Amino acid sequence: MRIEEQQRLLGILRHGFDHAGEVHGTGIAQSPLADFTCPKLLAAERQTFFRDTPLFMGLSGDLPKPGRYWADSETGLSILMTRDEAGAFRAFANTCRHRGAQVVPDGRGKRLRFSCPFHAWTYGSDGALIAINREQRFGAVDKRAFGLIELPAVERHGMLWVKPTPGGEIDVDAMLDGLEDDMAHWGLAEHSYGASQIIEAPLNWKLAIDTFGENYHFDTLHRETLASDIRGNLQTHDIFGRNYRMVFALVHGFEEQAKSASNLNEWPFRSMTLCVYFVYPNTIFLVDGNAVDVIRIFPDKDTPGRSRTAHSFYVMPGAKADYAGHRYEERFDSFNAVVRDEDYHVAASMQRSANAGIQSHVLFGRNEPALLHYHNVHRAALGRPLLEVASA
Ligand code: FES
Ligand SMILES: [Fe+2]
Repeated sequence: MRIEEQQRLLGILRHGFDHAGEVHGTGIAQSPLADFTCPKLLAAERQTFFRDTPLFMGLSGDLPKPGRYWADSETGLSILMTRDEAGAFRAFANTCRHRGAQVVPDGRGKRLRFSCPFHAWTYGSDGALIAINREQRFGAVDKRAFGLIELPAVERHGMLWVKPTPGGEIDVDAMLDGLEDDMAHWGLAEHSYGASQIIEAPLNWKLAIDTFGENYHFDTLHRETLASDIRGNLQTHDIFGRNYRMVFALVHGFEEQAKSASNLNEWPFRSMTLCVYFVYPNTIFLVDGNAVDVIRIFPDKDTPGRSRTAHSFYVMPGAKADYAGHRYEERFDSFNAVVRDEDYHVAASMQRSANAGIQSHVLFGRNEPALLHYHNVHRAALGRPLLEVASA
């Protein structure tokens, strides 16, 4: 993010810190609860968003050196990501060309050879089929034609992108659609991998995304947790194509800065704000003063009312001692106390309302414009009618 842009955002937050924060939407929109319960819609979403669309998977720090790998099945297709011997980021369908078994169990590690657990066909980090166990007994196979099936994969601005379908290319600039400056600015390639967790929750994947879409709820749902750290009802809103950026003000960082320096030029943007990005179609990306979080949200199999949140965080170079000391569990504890135990807990009750079918719609207010954006970019991709602002 350019310095001028940081100052523009700080100016908005400073004004809102002293006055009531502005609202950005033009009216109220109605959103049907059937979007969270319909198996047919989920089948279309799985294909469009989790097979046909390039996905932001993680950061360069997931694969810091040649020989590192990461196998991940959250999209529904098992994907093997590697940094090959030449240092290139590669992605493959993690499925054996012999009989289709998953070659590498989900997880991370360091290995340049991958041996399938079923009959021990062996592949390299570049996907090449290197060896067939007892080849003479099996029969002649042209190994060059039976490497792992490669998937489009691009590393840019320290971000790792994969399209879970073979063929075609990934245009990262088109996916970021104006966020390139921000991503280049954060120095993501220099962040080191911290840890990962999965949160399984009884709520639709879009409901999980929605919980990151407004801070109208901070002073109520999070009054005992996040509200003491982040100012509620105050945020900036910017749209970048299908993506979205909100910036929140940290309660203490802002007050301290306002006292010590009146000139915005001197304000350390990153240590006084939390940036929340929605990166189309399913990722929430958080930037704070010490680390960044990649939060990828997926449907759980074919169940509209269940989701899986794959959360990894990455530590900024020169981060505070807390992170240099690798106190990762504490970071997850505080994240889970807010997101899992408060946001997802209440969103699970919204899923139960949707399942009960008593109420047909819910409302997105003028102060919740990101929700309207998220739902409409998903609707547009599926050729569905957009939600309209119903009243001022
Ligand atoms: S299925 Fe992998 S070696 Fe047989
Ligand atoms: Fe929340």
